Amino acid sequence: MNETVLILDFGAQYNQLIARRVREAQVFCEVVPCDISAEDVRQKHPAAIILSGGPASVFEADAPTMDPAILSLGIPTLGICYGMQLMAYLLHGTVTPAEHREYGRTAMTVVQKTPLFFHVPEVSTVWMSHGDHVLDVPAGFHILAFTPTTHVAAMADPDRNLWAVQYHPEVHHTQSGFRMLQNFLYDIARVPANWKPAAFIPSAVKHIQDAVGGGKALIALSGGVDSAVAAAIAQEAIGSRLTAMLIDNGLMREGEIEEVLTAFPSLDLRVLRRGDIFFRALEGVRDPEAKRKIIGREFIRAFEEGKEDIGSVKVLIQGTVYPDVIESGNQNARTIKSHHNVGGLPKDVGFEIIEPLRWLFKDEVRQVGQALGLPETIVWRQPFPGPGLAVRITGEVTPERAAILRRADAIVRQEIRESGLERSIWQAFAVLLDVQTVGVMGDGRTYGFPVVIRAVESIDGMTADWVRLPYDLLEKIGNRIIGEVPEINRVVYDVTSKPPGTIEWE
Ligand code: XMP
Repeated sequence: MNETVLILDFGAQYNQLIARRVREAQVFCEVVPCDISAEDVRQKHPAAIILSGGPASVFEADAPTMDPAILSLGIPTLGICYGMQLMAYLLHGTVTPAEHREYGRTAMTVVQKTPLFFHVPEVSTVWMSHGDHVLDVPAGFHILAFTPTTHVAAMADPDRNLWAVQYHPEVHHTQSGFRMLQNFLYDIARVPANWKPAAFIPSAVKHIQDAVGGGKALIALSGGVDSAVAAAIAQEAIGSRLTAMLIDNGLMREGEIEEVLTAFPSLDLRVLRRGDIFFRALEGVRDPEAKRKIIGREFIRAFEEGKEDIGSVKVLIQGTVYPDVIESGNQNARTIKSHHNVGGLPKDVGFEIIEPLRWLFKDEVRQVGQALGLPETIVWRQPFPGPGLAVRITGEVTPERAAILRRADAIVRQEIRESGLERSIWQAFAVLLDVQTVGVMGDGRTYGFPVVIRAVESIDGMTADWVRLPYDLLEKIGNRIIGEVPEINRVVYDVTSKPPGTIEWE
């Protein structure tokens, strides 16, 4: 048996959270599409299976389902929410459509103290979000817990090692939720807690060495932590046979390029200055999606041009991280914005593509970066979108406006860093608006641009809450921006979470 847990993806927004929690429990896990066959599951020899939640109802004609034979493989399995309903449905229990959805916190009472509820209080708060519910458990199952509205809040057939919960143990609102997941992993599935992100470095190094052989590899650096860590691993693997390319699109943060150059003193790093070309292509463009597409296109052009000079390279290394992989594998995901990253290069670049970080989450990437000795300025850098400052400038993106925003943004970042909040905040940045407002400074009237400060906390960027920054910190940031950036005469704070807002403004 290997020590991997498979998470079957039924399209829930919380899927990544399940994977995160399993990793936090120091167990390696992989999210796979729900239509994986029982044979493929068997070949992977997972230590346990988790069936995720999902937005569908088992009664819908095109509801996602699974190969029922997976439930007979004898592998410890935990169904969560939709996963539980599907388990009940496939094993001939009774699932009923709900008259109304149950959403939010509720009190759950445990009626059977199985290993799933070790160290869990008899009555605890759980987080529900479901329409259908299980009325009668399938033959062989017991009811383990109930809530005032849900008769079967948890069920199990310990003989077949099948377990299921109607609520979401992975969300923080479920008191003891992490405990329940740990119980499932350690006590029911008997998976040891020994996965650590840094443990994956040697195999990633070897993978790159095998793929590159005696040849050369290329990596596109963006200044972000992901591509920097991928570069560090690749450098460890093949040393001077790695060439890096950094496309300066004129839309990067202050000091970004210099920091990358300092972080990799011995790397063959080629900086392609393409700011003029990007700005020319963006002239007069105001529509956010159009801007994103133009930037994506120009990146590809710059990359194709740059690679001509590099010669015979067969392998391209990309810093794709696990959330990108999960997202792109999910057919149910809707495009809110067309995400572009430097990794978003065309498929037909004529390289073999290696993504050494494709199994890791962002904080795990940071741990790997630290283990590899990358400087803190790189490792703790907050996520930055591929299109750069362009998605933080409403209206037309010009070199002048990018310069204004860059200065304001540098102040925000510096103050956040000095306040010690940089690591706990997912992203803090400035946004430049294309309206003008009246102000007064000295004895004169001003008519300048407002800047928005945005600071959010998030686990994975999928949902986010605005950060309650201390007032004196906001005041300091505001005063400095107005004092130091003459074009700006007003600073406002964004108090929108995601949803309904997105993190970036465009
Ligand atoms: P939104 O604005 O969609 O952002 O709430 C979620 C997270 O993704 C980042 N982001 C991007 N990253 N290319 C990227 O590599 C993009 O085009 C892009 N757009 C947004 C954003 O900074 C946040 O962390």
